[in-house]
Amino acid sequence: MYGMTIRAPLNGDSVAARESITPMNKPRSIIVWMVLTIIAIGLAAYWDDQRESAAALDDFAHEQVTLARAAARTLDVAGTPATLRSIEEPGSVLVLVSGPTGLLTTEGTPTTSPAIEDAIRHGATSTRLSRPEAAALGLPARTAMAGVAMSGHTTVVVVATAFKERDREVRAQWRLALSFLFCSAVVLAFGTLALRKQRKELELAHELAVAEAIRERDTRLVRADKLATLGALGIGIAHEVSTPLGVIVGRAEQLSSRVTGDERAARAVAAISEQADRIGKIIRALLNLARGGDATLERVRPNTIVSDAIELVQHRFDQEGVTLSQRIEPDLRSISCDAKLFTQVVVNLLLNACDACTSGGHVELIVSAKGEHVSFSVLDDGDGISEDAAARATEPFFTTKAAGRGTGLGLAIANEIVGHHHGKLHIASRGDGHRGTEARVDIKGLT
Ligand SMILES: Nc1ncnc2c1ncn2[C@@H]1O[C@H](COP(=O)(O)OP(=O)(O)O)[C@@H](O)[C@H]1O
Ligand SMILES: [Mg+2]
Repeated sequence: MYGMTIRAPLNGDSVAARESITPMNKPRSIIVWMVLTIIAIGLAAYWDDQRESAAALDDFAHEQVTLARAAARTLDVAGTPATLRSIEEPGSVLVLVSGPTGLLTTEGTPTTSPAIEDAIRHGATSTRLSRPEAAALGLPARTAMAGVAMSGHTTVVVVATAFKERDREVRAQWRLALSFLFCSAVVLAFGTLALRKQRKELELAHELAVAEAIRERDTRLVRADKLATLGALGIGIAHEVSTPLGVIVGRAEQLSSRVTGDERAARAVAAISEQADRIGKIIRALLNLARGGDATLERVRPNTIVSDAIELVQHRFDQEGVTLSQRIEPDLRSISCDAKLFTQVVVNLLLNACDACTSGGHVELIVSAKGEHVSFSVLDDGDGISEDAAARATEPFFTTKAAGRGTGLGLAIANEIVGHHHGKLHIASRGDGHRGTEARVDIKGLT
């Protein structure tokens, strides 16, 4: 009967949310880490190389200072710069003497070197000569180191080209470049592996999410299909029932005129007529909903729903030996509903609660305010409901009851009616230290 009234059969939101998990979201962080690691390795290696080459030049300068000191002592003894010529090596080591007239070679030729003169002026024991400065002194155009030592009033300077140190530096730079390339290759290889692994994991997660979304959609399609079947079945049954129902109403009316003397019989006939009329109204209302019409809404007090529903089910509770009590909060808001249909929802919840109890059990119907909603809560002390059954309880034809006892239609129909009233139906085990189940309908109250 409700096939045409299914609301939002497919949950597009969850599918969209799952599809937003793209496999490329996370690898970016791995790439950033790879780049940062390579930069860090490069900086560390460069810093180490600079430190090493500075230390090598320092050692070389120290050697020149020692040589200059030895030369200064020789000068002290021999007295003439020409004796220092033996220390010189053409094209790599040069000895200079600084006297009152400036710098002189061992041959007595005046020469200049701003770096050396600066070192002598400041009393430094060594200094570094740039390539042009070394070339200006007649040495190869390569970095040179000068060691400075005092001898009486003259100063001896030994200048040597840092061949080996520069060569070592060049080799060290090659080593630096090679080790940097090697480390980068290792980082890239591991990074690529990690990227591949992560991409595979993400693709797998994505596939799983899509499969889950498809499974969910299929479940919903099956449910929608069942609701459609239920709708068609309901319309057929309603059509079939309306004819015999018309006969019952007609015959009850005929009887009522004949039983005027018998008060008990008259009451019984009135009850038959009233209930047949009720069935007719419920069927018409359900048919109207099934055809896509709106529920005929009226302003109803919650107490009216409660008393009507209890009146309809009381005899079942008496038969089963289950007690039924009610608690209605005072000053509740009225609700806007089709009273007959909404009563039918509460009747369904009460009958399920009665079925769940054994003889001697207890069911309580509590109506309370929940914010701007009015809550109809049916609590029983039966065995409770499993999570799986609770999730499927409103599915058409879902029943855990024996054949002939359950149809699996009560909560499916109740859920449709509640949905048409923009309310919500919840069912779950009570879990507040009590046995049993709570079935609850929340519907917005009128101001
Ligand atoms: N109060 C309850 N306690 C335990 N289980 C319940 C309760 N109400 C409903 N259920 C479960 O939900 C199922 C569907 O209920 P319903 O749609 O009314 O169909 P039916 O009563 O014909 O089985 C029931 O078979 C039962 O498993
Ligand atoms: Mg039921």
